[in-house]
Amino acid sequence: MASGSDSPDTPKGKKAVRGSEAETVDEESGVLEEETVDPSAFDSDEQERESIAVDTSVGDQDTLYQRRGEKGTVPEPAAMLTDDRLLGVDKKSKRPEGFWQRFLYEISFHLINVGDSRKARERKALDRRIATSFDSGARFVPVLTRKGGVGKTTITTLLGMALARTREDRVIAVDANPDRGTLAERIPKSTPATVRDVVNLVAGIHGFTDFTELVSKDKTRLHVLASDTDPQLSEAFDEDDYNVVADQAGRYYSIVLTDCGTGVVHSVMKPTLERADGLVIVSGGSVDEAKLASETLTWLEVNGHADLVKNAIVALNTATQGTNVVKLEEIETHFASRVRDVVRIPYDPVLAAGSVIDWDKLSPVTREAARGLAALVVEGVVERRGT
Ligand SMILES: Nc1ncnc2c1ncn2[C@@H]1O[C@H](COP(=O)(O)OP(=O)(O)OP(=O)(O)O)[C@@H](O)[C@H]1O
Ligand SMILES: [Mg+2]
Repeated sequence: MASGSDSPDTPKGKKAVRGSEAETVDEESGVLEEETVDPSAFDSDEQERESIAVDTSVGDQDTLYQRRGEKGTVPEPAAMLTDDRLLGVDKKSKRPEGFWQRFLYEISFHLINVGDSRKARERKALDRRIATSFDSGARFVPVLTRKGGVGKTTITTLLGMALARTREDRVIAVDANPDRGTLAERIPKSTPATVRDVVNLVAGIHGFTDFTELVSKDKTRLHVLASDTDPQLSEAFDEDDYNVVADQAGRYYSIVLTDCGTGVVHSVMKPTLERADGLVIVSGGSVDEAKLASETLTWLEVNGHADLVKNAIVALNTATQGTNVVKLEEIETHFASRVRDVVRIPYDPVLAAGSVIDWDKLSPVTREAARGLAALVVEGVVERRGT
């Protein structure tokens, strides 16, 4: 096995790529390390078209800057000491987003710049919250609840995608479900390997490239490590095994999400909670489901994880059968009194299929909900452990 970089952080200042282009990530070369996501590049199709439509003299500017440091060329004229160069202001970033904002900017020959549209400003602010970088070390965020079928796996995937497509570093979702997890079925499968293979092959994993041979990759840059499909093997996946997998994931990724499956007392739960820097509790929208999620919080509190509970985010999945629209606000108010924040996840036909989730095909409301959840998770983790 070839070895790769051990750093969970992607080098800064490299070429910006859109999330959708990042599917070119190459397992063999570990090109993931070479790519940096420019959050501001992510956009709705509409906004993307807008930004493509405008051209400025940036090309010339680049050529000018290339001359810097070249030996033997003519001395630079004073005019080259521009604000852009001295203050590090990117000319492109001055161009406003939004139809009218851009229109005014263009017809005034760049003299009138009223700034981005409100929508663009909000989008960029959310990008910044999600993309907050961490100094070093992995952050572990389990997704759990005591009830089955309320959307833990779906929400782990949505959260992972929202984080991975906007953050510059690496994000992985690990399926630690003791009962035949389905996480790996939510993204295109690129390997049959599972957590068991990580445990068995650990001595031969010498770097990131080796590790990526055992995970599936989504175009959002999310990596997923599958659980054992054989129920006997997955039930036998114990605390020590989880620690081996978590150690490995922690070496190569900045955020490790764990789909914990149903229940809070199985053997993997203890190490999962011990490592947790943040927590997502999933609740369905029915009163019964909310009660179980609330009991999960109580169980965590009395078992030494009160601080995690206080900082947790509840993902309220309003797509579950029996979701009571009238009671949703009551449920939200209840959880808001116990945890950091509550995010509603809407029903989405793309999610209902229960198979591969294509981020681009999700409704904008679902994507915003997932991005909002991602921002809150990052903030919670930062508050607990710092950047
Ligand atoms: N927001 C949603 N919109 C539409 N369908 C959804 C949504 N959330 C979950 N589903 C569907 O509900 C079903 C159960 O979801 P999921 O597998 O994520 O639940 P789970 O809590 O992980 O279940 P388990 O306890 O079996 O692991 C799936 O078919 C999924 O596609
Ligand atoms: Mg599941």
